[in-house]
Amino acid sequence: MNSPRRWTLRTDRTSYTVRLSADGPWAELDAWGPLGAEDGPSPLDWSHRTHFITPADAAPAEYLPSGLRPFTGADLVAARPGAERGVWWEFAGAEEAPGSLRLAFADDVLGLRTVLCYAVVPGTDVLLRWTELTCTGEETLRLERLDSGAVTVPAADGVRLTYLTGQWSQEFQRTRLDLTRGTFTMGSTQGVPGHAYAPWLAVQDRHAPEDGPAPTYGVALAWPGNWHITAEAEPGGTVRVRAGRVPHEGTVPLAPGDTLTTPRLACAFSSEGLDGLARVWHRYERHLSGERLGRTRKVLYNSWEATGFDVEAAGQLELAKAAADIGAELFVVDDGWFTGRADDTGGLGDWYPDPAAFPRGFGRFVEDVRGLGLDFGLWVEPEAVSPNSRLYAEHPDWVYRVDGRPARLVRNQLLLDLGREDVQDFVVSTLDRLLCEYAVSYLKWDMNRPPTERGRPGAGPADRLDLDAGHVTGYLRILDHLRTAHPQVTVEGCAGGGGRVEHATLARTDVVWPSDNTAPLDRLRIQFGFLHAHAPHLMSSWVTDAPGVFDPRPRSLAFRFVTALCGVLGIGADLRTWGPARRAEAARWIARYKEVREVVHHGEARLLGTPDDPTCGVQYDAQDGARTVVAAFGTGRLDGAPLVPGRAARLRLRGLDPAARYHDTASAATYSGAHLLHYGLPFAWTAEHDADLVVLKRQ
Ligand code: GLA
Repeated sequence: MNSPRRWTLRTDRTSYTVRLSADGPWAELDAWGPLGAEDGPSPLDWSHRTHFITPADAAPAEYLPSGLRPFTGADLVAARPGAERGVWWEFAGAEEAPGSLRLAFADDVLGLRTVLCYAVVPGTDVLLRWTELTCTGEETLRLERLDSGAVTVPAADGVRLTYLTGQWSQEFQRTRLDLTRGTFTMGSTQGVPGHAYAPWLAVQDRHAPEDGPAPTYGVALAWPGNWHITAEAEPGGTVRVRAGRVPHEGTVPLAPGDTLTTPRLACAFSSEGLDGLARVWHRYERHLSGERLGRTRKVLYNSWEATGFDVEAAGQLELAKAAADIGAELFVVDDGWFTGRADDTGGLGDWYPDPAAFPRGFGRFVEDVRGLGLDFGLWVEPEAVSPNSRLYAEHPDWVYRVDGRPARLVRNQLLLDLGREDVQDFVVSTLDRLLCEYAVSYLKWDMNRPPTERGRPGAGPADRLDLDAGHVTGYLRILDHLRTAHPQVTVEGCAGGGGRVEHATLARTDVVWPSDNTAPLDRLRIQFGFLHAHAPHLMSSWVTDAPGVFDPRPRSLAFRFVTALCGVLGIGADLRTWGPARRAEAARWIARYKEVREVVHHGEARLLGTPDDPTCGVQYDAQDGARTVVAAFGTGRLDGAPLVPGRAARLRLRGLDPAARYHDTASAATYSGAHLLHYGLPFAWTAEHDADLVVLKRQ
């Protein structure tokens, strides 16, 4: 039973209990864990007798402003212009409904009402948290910090943080850090989540097994702009994680009567370790995809790695024909199809097909591709503009600039100020024109430069404009428009690879491009990290040529196919150079993928080992348990020396029924569930056989 001062929110398998503090006007976490864990004394209670700080500074607070929490990390910093910073509020009431809770706090001196919002996501183990800030006074407030929420994890002797870090072409590297004292913070001020860190964090007890079952807490922030996630060892013997937007341009204004809603912070728990937490996130992202989850993700061919900017009809058609022959279902022309785009120095903004490249007309070219039985897709970078484009000549005021200062180029281009409605309208009408004029059913939306000089000349200083939120609003509005006005179009999200992967984007796209790096062993590691946070049906992946652009380490064609079919399979190789044997092998892999993609995209995925192990893999169990698909990789040396001397490699499966029998449809071998759980599937890796796809049917 909930008392008026204690509320429990329940997901499928977890509960989250909040109470009003006995020490002051704030909400605290009482318990978070498996269902029923809230029934007992709170593990987050502490002695309340820490000398030299205030009770609020050590409390497992859900959200506290800087006035009330003077010394340790506050979640909200606000002020009236020219006045002292700080919020001192009183509890102003709770509203509870099935699966949701709102706790209000009012500071009548400042003129600010703060509502902590909670909502359970049905069918998942995710609880959403966000905060609504309303200016109730007569003066515009300045918000210097405006987090979405904070969660507290008990930590008797510190926590292990797992996060996804990297850089362009090396995104989603799983990394760990023990936090016993101090602060760990990550984020981005690049106007997009960025390549350096994913807005995702997992927290476990420092002594929990590294890759086994253990209570594991996670957060992920839905915000495609500037952000931070900060974990702080607190004086009360806990680790508190807070997350939210970063007002990089200064402060965010909140005008009288206005309400600012912070981004959603998704909070997840699993008792089954990082792998169990990954499945919680996968289920949540299947929920985000909604009915579009049911749309078959087609086997794509993308010509970027084969032709680069050298796009012309005959060469593209030759590739399309070869792609259709091996079983591709969709042909995407990447960068280079529009006027002025001989290289990356021009063309962006002028979204018209280059007549020299398509002498018989672009419409005819699209129909020729479709005549091969392929859907047609196109690359666009709607936020970008080249300085020598017609668009820039006509609308120099549409890009971010600071008056009187030089505008820097990144990848030879500028960025449109998508917060402006006229710019949004231009992008919407450009995409409408392309999608209506040509039979385009797939759009790859790219973004290759962060905003540098963030200003809007003539509109006042950036710290009064909230340009970050403006850009995000424009971006999401256009993605929403694509979904409603062109529901048949599949949208791929990309930002120079995985620079903009977060829940607001994932709710509005069908797949995302995790990285430009398609080299087999690098890709395996990128995908391994990606799958900790994101679902397989969103993970676009291509088979490309060897040696790759990034990594010459040899791997077989099979390895590259098995890696790519761990998500949404695509081909990016120059098929014109492939002989009949290679094409036949590719056709066999694509046919096998089509047989299992339903399980890969809709099943429950388990990460088996890590790319640091000589054998690792991903297991996908069909929801009805009838089929299990295992993608397995030999990651070790391939020079003839046995990978594990004297022993065949084994991959222990998980979650199977020990009493059931499982039949390997390719080798005809049959295993008991107990054998697969205890000893694992056997593999014998060689240079030619360094990856495998095993399909087990439950008998
Ligand atoms: C970015 C993308 C690539 C490709 C190029 C084209 O780098 O991540 O996949 O589309 O742009 O210029």
